[in-house]
Amino acid sequence: MGIRTILHYPDKRLREVGKRVEVVTPEIQKLVDDMAETMYAAPGVGLAATQIGVALAIFVIDTAADGEPSAFRVFINPEIVQKDGEITWNEGCLSFPEVHEEIDRAASVKVRAQDRDGKWFELEADDLLAVAIQHELDHLNGVLMIDHMGPLKKRIVHRQMQKRADEHASA
Ligand code: NI
Repeated sequence: MGIRTILHYPDKRLREVGKRVEVVTPEIQKLVDDMAETMYAAPGVGLAATQIGVALAIFVIDTAADGEPSAFRVFINPEIVQKDGEITWNEGCLSFPEVHEEIDRAASVKVRAQDRDGKWFELEADDLLAVAIQHELDHLNGVLMIDHMGPLKKRIVHRQMQKRADEHASA
């Protein structure tokens, strides 16, 4: 299937919770490959399965800057087992084009997940990678960046995204 369509807020499918992947089958691996292709084409730093309408606990991340070697990682059934410190990051999201928000996150996390081969691993991450992991994990819980905003900004962004969706629907 290759590049998938990324859902934009307020699409209700973004509120679905990513269900546990029981077995990492070739179909799951194909999904992971499509997610990578979709993320790079966007381009984005991370993509959760729920953002392409697949309610499974999977996300992919590549935090490498332009010109740096790939830092591509796959997280299946991810779980944060430890959090430390605090960091504020100006975040964006492929499901909220042109929207940015300063969000408080843990500065470092330890995450446990399965890779593309179904092998369990543990990873300690900080800075952008830690932020990206927490952002994508939010997606798998149906939590979106708008949920981290204050009431005024929330209303503005909701209206802006609704208007965008209406324009696309009538185009
Ligand atoms: Ni996002």
